[in-house]
Amino acid sequence: MQFPFIWPLAACLLVACSTPQPSTPTMQFDPSRYQTQQLTVDGKAFTVRAYENLATVARPVDAAYQAINIYVPEAYFHGQAVGNFTAQTAPIFLPNQIGGYMPAKPGTPTGRTGPPGDSPRASTIAVALSKGFVVASPGARGRTAPTGKAPAAIVDLKAAVRYLRFNDARMPGDAEKIISNGTSAGGALSALLGTSGNSPDYAAALAALGAADVRDDIFAVSAYCPITNLEHADSAYEWQFNGVNDYKKIEVSMLDFNVQRKEVAGSLSAPQISLSADLKAQFPAYLNRLALRGPQGQPLALDSAGQGSFQAYVQSLVIASAQTALDAGKDLSGLAWLTVQNKVVRELDWDAYVRYAGRMKLPPAFDALDLSSGENQLFGTATVDKQHFTTASAQRSTASGATQADAHTVKQMNAMAYIGAANTARYWRIRHGTKDRDTSLAIPVILATTLQNQGYAVDFALPWDVPHSGDYDLAELFAWMARISTAP
Ligand code: DHB
Repeated sequence: MQFPFIWPLAACLLVACSTPQPSTPTMQFDPSRYQTQQLTVDGKAFTVRAYENLATVARPVDAAYQAINIYVPEAYFHGQAVGNFTAQTAPIFLPNQIGGYMPAKPGTPTGRTGPPGDSPRASTIAVALSKGFVVASPGARGRTAPTGKAPAAIVDLKAAVRYLRFNDARMPGDAEKIISNGTSAGGALSALLGTSGNSPDYAAALAALGAADVRDDIFAVSAYCPITNLEHADSAYEWQFNGVNDYKKIEVSMLDFNVQRKEVAGSLSAPQISLSADLKAQFPAYLNRLALRGPQGQPLALDSAGQGSFQAYVQSLVIASAQTALDAGKDLSGLAWLTVQNKVVRELDWDAYVRYAGRMKLPPAFDALDLSSGENQLFGTATVDKQHFTTASAQRSTASGATQADAHTVKQMNAMAYIGAANTARYWRIRHGTKDRDTSLAIPVILATTLQNQGYAVDFALPWDVPHSGDYDLAELFAWMARISTAP
C-alpha cells in the first residue's frame, strides 16, 4: 500500500472531472473531514482522528447500518510511529459490533465496554488504537428488518472491506492487513468474512448496492464463540447436551451477548427428549463426512452412539484448558469431575462437565419448530419474517404455513462452506469458553480443525470457565495481531 497525501487530490480530480456520474462518488475517503478525539488507555492520553458514519456503498438501502467508523492515531499524520507500526504498515483492525444477528451500528472508542455486569474496561477500539492499529468498525444490517435478512450482514461487511481496499492509498493503514473481529453472531460473521473472500456468491448483491469493485478477501480473523454452521448446530448441540434434561433458557430478545440475560429454568418434555436423541443421532454422519484429522494426523471420527476419537479430542481440549487455568494458579479442587494429580489434570468426566456447563437451549437449539429463534428470523425474506433453514425442522414444523430458506442463502451464511473454496484468510484466532452453551463446543472445534487441516495458521483455545462473551483477553489478542502482521 502507498500513502502519499497528494493522492486524494489527484484521484478526486480524475474521478470528478472525467466522469459525470462516477459509480462510487460518495466512497472516496476524504482525509480532511475528521473530528479529533482524545482517548485514555491505561492512564495514557492520546489523540485520534475520527471519520464517522462513512457510507460503504453507493446505493445504501439502510444508510445507518451500511456505514463505517474509521479511527486513526494522530501520530500517523505527523510521520511518527506507534508501537511497531507506521501509517504505511499499520494493520487495519475491523471489529464488528454484531450480536444476536441483530442490526449493528459501527462501533466507537467510547461505546460498548464489555457485557453488562462486567467490571468496566477500556473499549476494544480504544485499546487497539493505543497500540497503533488503524480501526475501522463496520455496521451491518440485521434480522429484525425486512432488508436485513440473510445474507445482508455479510454483504455489508464485505462492502466495508472493499471500501477500505478501494481507499487504501488515501488513508493510513494497510488494506492488505485487515484483521476482522467479532463475538457470537459477530464471531460467526467475522469467520465467514475470513473464509469467503472474493466468492462470486455475493457478487450480485454487492454490485446492486454499488459496493466498490475491488477484492474483499482479508488477512486474518479473530472470532469469539462463533455461532456458525447453523444448519448443523442443532445436531451438534444434542450431541453434546443429550441426557441433560434440565435447562436454563433465555428469551430470544436476550440472545445478543451484549445484553443482560435473565434465565428461566425448566425441564424437557418427553417429546423434546425424544427429539434430542433423533438430532444427536444425525451428528456422527455429518462429522465423519468432514474427515477431520487431529494435531498428530489422527482421524477424528464418531461411532453411531456419538463416541470416538472426535469426542476424545474435544475432551482433550477442555482438559488442556483446565491445565492452563491450573498453571495460572486457579483452584480447581472443588470440581469433582476433574482428576488432578501432582498439578497435572489427568482426567475429565465428560458427562459431568456437560452438566456443569448446563443446557441453555431446547431441541432444536437453532431451527425452532415454532419459528421462535433468532436464526429463524435471520433466514426470513423481505416478505416472510421467519423461516426454517433445516429440513429436519421444516418436516417437524409446528408453525402453520412455515416455509424453508433456500439452500443457497443458508450456504452464504456458513463460514464452513467457503474454507479453501474462496480466498480464505491466512491467520485465525478462535476462542470459545468452556462455559459457553450457546452452541456446542463441536462447532468451533470443527471450524478450527478444518482450517488447520487445510493449512491455515490457527490459534485455537477454549478459555477456562469463560461464558458466552468476547474481547476478554485484549492483551493476548493484540499481541497475536502484532505477531502475524510482522511475520515474514
Ligand atoms: C447470539 C447468541 C446465540 O445463542 C445465538 O443463537 C445467536 C447469536 C449472540 O450472542 O450473538
